Amino acid sequence: MSKSYDVVVIGAGPAGYIAAIRAAQHGMKVACIDEWKNKDGKNAFGGTCLNAGCIPSKAMLESSELFHRAQHEFKKHGIKTGVIELDIAAMQKRRAGIVRQLTNGVAGLFKANGVDALVGHGKLLTGRKVEFTPIDGAAEIISAANVIIATGSEPLELPFAKFDGAEIVDSWGAIEFDSVPERLGVIGAGVIGLELGSVWSRLGSQVTIIEAMHDFLFMADREVAATAGKDFKKQGLDIKLGAKLTGAKPGKSGITVEYEDAGIPKTLEVDKLVVAVGRRPFTTGLLAEDSGIQLDKRGFIEVNDECRTRVQGIYAIGDCVRGPMLAHKGSEEGVMVADLIAGEIAEVNYKVIPSVIYTAPEIAWVGKTEQEVKESGRAYKTGSFPFAASGRAKAMEQTSGMVKIISSRDDDEILGVHIIGPMAGELIAEAVLAMEFSASTEDIQRTIHAHPSLAEAVHEAALAVDKKALNYPNK
Ligand code: FAD
Ligand code: NAI
Repeated sequence: MSKSYDVVVIGAGPAGYIAAIRAAQHGMKVACIDEWKNKDGKNAFGGTCLNAGCIPSKAMLESSELFHRAQHEFKKHGIKTGVIELDIAAMQKRRAGIVRQLTNGVAGLFKANGVDALVGHGKLLTGRKVEFTPIDGAAEIISAANVIIATGSEPLELPFAKFDGAEIVDSWGAIEFDSVPERLGVIGAGVIGLELGSVWSRLGSQVTIIEAMHDFLFMADREVAATAGKDFKKQGLDIKLGAKLTGAKPGKSGITVEYEDAGIPKTLEVDKLVVAVGRRPFTTGLLAEDSGIQLDKRGFIEVNDECRTRVQGIYAIGDCVRGPMLAHKGSEEGVMVADLIAGEIAEVNYKVIPSVIYTAPEIAWVGKTEQEVKESGRAYKTGSFPFAASGRAKAMEQTSGMVKIISSRDDDEILGVHIIGPMAGELIAEAVLAMEFSASTEDIQRTIHAHPSLAEAVHEAALAVDKKALNYPNK
């Protein structure tokens, strides 16, 4: 007899593994199928995020930042060191160790919560059946009262700069370089291009980023983007905006990158090329022809706000559906779907999803940008506070950037918070909570913030919205 479950999840990334655990916590019988294989040939849970994305990239960001600070900042603190040397093998070993601990952790969580972890390929058949093909065995059919698809995304490949796994690589390849490329080319000044570009720049690469758009960081608030652009230039990142890639030819002494800048053909010689021009939903081999699941024009699985597909009992979450491709967005969708299946009321507040770019300084925001508020026609007021006026930021030698708050002029509702500066990715949590609770700017103004802390910059920015900043002249 075929196995049967209350819930079968296909994909154990941050969307799928969280959905599986939450469903099991509701007392349901749950299986989670995943086929991820690391470069060492071993299977691991955690998907892109834990194996090849969020976690390893942040491990490398931290290491490269420490290397940079030890070289350039320690002297200011009165700390003398000998020659600071890079041991890239040790750095990569630490990165791999963190990944291993966390991915093993997911397997442990499955066990602790009674989730059946099935290693292999899942294919959705009609009638809420899933064909499971183990990595080393024959296919079997599993019945499920509910199926949650969480198959994630994959990097976009450009026809004239195809990945070769050695010289022309995707973000995963770029995280795992075993030496520092002398000249690194990056296609795309998006989140990955900036994060990984700055990692290798801090470790010594000469980094050139080719970006098709004319506006730098077009998705961010303009003031934040302008500050970031200046900072990255100072750090030595050469970002060519409005540049169109036309070819990439590997040769004996590296890769010749061909691009057009304002219509003029140009070339660039690099040792490695990272292509980071976005990701697309991954559904290869997932759907039987009669599964009934619809994909939209861009290949995303069609779902409603509750992540229900048009087939009863089949849900889809995470990167394979509309919305930002972010781990925390996928996880929250997983929680919502598991709760809905359990008969609870649940929703995801898509208006309040934080975005963080883990460069140095970090960039983080939630809600609308000033240009979006302006376009909406809503009357608004803004306040900002520079980290240069923060005692804590000065003590940390990290004074670049600011906190900016945009609020409604009529009822003081917080509409957007934008931060560029030290620990912006942590500071944004206060703004997310405030917006989730529909707080007003005055609520933040009247909340006590510890002194001296970076969070005081959020407090002062809220005060500045009403020209009441106390530690900076009001404009
Ligand atoms: P995934 O994590 O992609 O997991 C999908 C899983 O499903 C995979 O294990 C895959 O092997 C498996 N699978 C697919 N099809 C099948 C099948 N048919 N059968 C069995 N298994 C299958 N997001 C952030 O929020 N913060 C960050 O700092 C961040 N940094 C990133 C850095 C990089 C370099 C990259 C590439 C991405 C980063 N992201 C970050 C994005 C984040 O990784 C994704 O949003 C997140 O992983 C999506 O989760 P998911 O569960 O939907 O899919
Ligand atoms: P992205 O969408 O952030 O950026 C891609 C960039 O490439 C854009 O600026 C685009 O204009 C540019 N581009 C596209 N085609 C081009 C071409 N032919 N030539 C030159 N430039 C071109 O995508 P990215 O950086 O690949 O990241 C994918 C996704 O992964 C992100 O959108 C994000 O959802 C997720 N991610 C999140 C992180 C975080 O939360 N900190 C970190 C890394 C990735």
